[in-house]
Amino acid sequence: MTTPRLHRRGRLAAAVGGLAAATLAVALAVPAAAAGSTLQAAAAESGRYFGTAIAASRLSDGTYTGIANREFNMITAENEMKMDATEPNRGQFSYSNGDRIVNWARQNGKQVRGHALAWHSQQPGWMQNLSGTDLRNAMLNHVTQVATYYRGKIYAWDVVNEAYADGSSGARRDSNLQRTGNDWIEAAFRAARAADPNAKLCYNDYNTDNWSHAKTQGVYNMVKDFKARGVPIDCVGFQAHFNSGNPVPSNYHTTLQNFADLGVDVQITELDIEGSGSSQAQQYQGVVQACLAVSRCTGITVWGVRDTDSWRASGTPLLFDGSGNKKAAYTSVLNALNAGGTTTPTPNPTNPTPTPTPTNPGGGSPSCTATYSEGQKWGDRFNGTVTIRATTNISSWQSTVTVRSPQKIIATWNGSPTWDSSGNVMTMRPSGSGALAAGQSTSFGFTVQHNGNWTWPSVTCAAS
Ligand code: G3I
Repeated sequence: MTTPRLHRRGRLAAAVGGLAAATLAVALAVPAAAAGSTLQAAAAESGRYFGTAIAASRLSDGTYTGIANREFNMITAENEMKMDATEPNRGQFSYSNGDRIVNWARQNGKQVRGHALAWHSQQPGWMQNLSGTDLRNAMLNHVTQVATYYRGKIYAWDVVNEAYADGSSGARRDSNLQRTGNDWIEAAFRAARAADPNAKLCYNDYNTDNWSHAKTQGVYNMVKDFKARGVPIDCVGFQAHFNSGNPVPSNYHTTLQNFADLGVDVQITELDIEGSGSSQAQQYQGVVQACLAVSRCTGITVWGVRDTDSWRASGTPLLFDGSGNKKAAYTSVLNALNAGGTTTPTPNPTNPTPTPTPTNPGGGSPSCTATYSEGQKWGDRFNGTVTIRATTNISSWQSTVTVRSPQKIIATWNGSPTWDSSGNVMTMRPSGSGALAAGQSTSFGFTVQHNGNWTWPSVTCAAS
């Protein structure tokens, strides 16, 4: 890596990279997804992710994986990493279906939310029959084993799921785990932190969306207490399963903001809204806007791809119909994401986005991927690295890096940059030949003076 060079924009605009004009025309013709044309791209404009739940049994369905790969960049296993799936017999762990999903996600450059380490439901039969110290130890061992197995591959874990009661009590739900002692939740979080120090650790629940509900207050008070006592909790997941009897509350933004103000990230983890047409679309829009208005709302996950993939398919609660067509709800979500919000999250993912594995080594049209990873941060600026990976053999590449005003790129290294007239879009070309064999990668870096805007730059790659 060479020493960073400080740039004056006027001089740089005149700089020309290493490719001849004719070659450039070819390179520019290689399609790269326009920012904002998919859910993941639109969410990334404000530094957020957009995810979906994936079922291992559907990974052989090309329509399903095609939509999932195009639209989403955060993946949750719908059932395959739950306690009954991962420890069907005591002390015997089974990761095959969880691995299918994690591998698919990572091969396609996506991050993974882990769901769920400890829960009163979907326990294996042997655990349902345990109690007291035996159950506590079995639960802690499960948390430790599973979080250790997936260490380094999980962006955030739902460490504990659904531990609060519905209704007006605001109290914990009765369960075999709760009967092991009120400290079972914090014990699970401590075990998870020890096993995977880099994963964000979340408490995840449903019916916690309305600020005035007792259940919301119960969870809020637990998180407040955990933060005060140093229990390692990083985030709260709001499942967000809505229908006509449980609509999106008008105070949703207040709920998300109040939790965020406790010093945790908030994430919408299992979004689905029963209904159809404009009514459904409007409710989806409201959820997206609530998240965008909270700087620590780091992403949204919908609970499935097509309506027919949903756990409540008859309610048609998702963004794609059974044939894979985009619904009105999809368009409203995309538009709301592209309209942006008043805030952007502090960029702090714990695990970098995995680099996609090429599926057609060597052959096909020249293509490449660009992956951004965060570098060092200071009060006034941050560093970023873009990894360029060839998915076929390529003779050269160029990468665009778009920063958000009033951000400015003040230094670059390992490449030859030019800027557009706005100064917000940098095109980086290789300093040398740029030739890469399929699967090979190279990287360049830059420093952004953020001027108060911490949004991650968006990056694309085009190959020739
Ligand atoms: O795979 C078997 C199949 O072989 C068998 O024939 C069939 C018979 O019942 O069951 C199939 O397993 C079902 C599984 O979904 C896969 O479809 C289970 O019975 C069924 O219980 C399971 O339901 C899951 C549910 O959690 C269980 O609690 C849903 O898929 C899943 O979407 C749902 O997800 C939960 C979150 O984890 C937590 N928050 C609420 C959310 C919705 O309920």
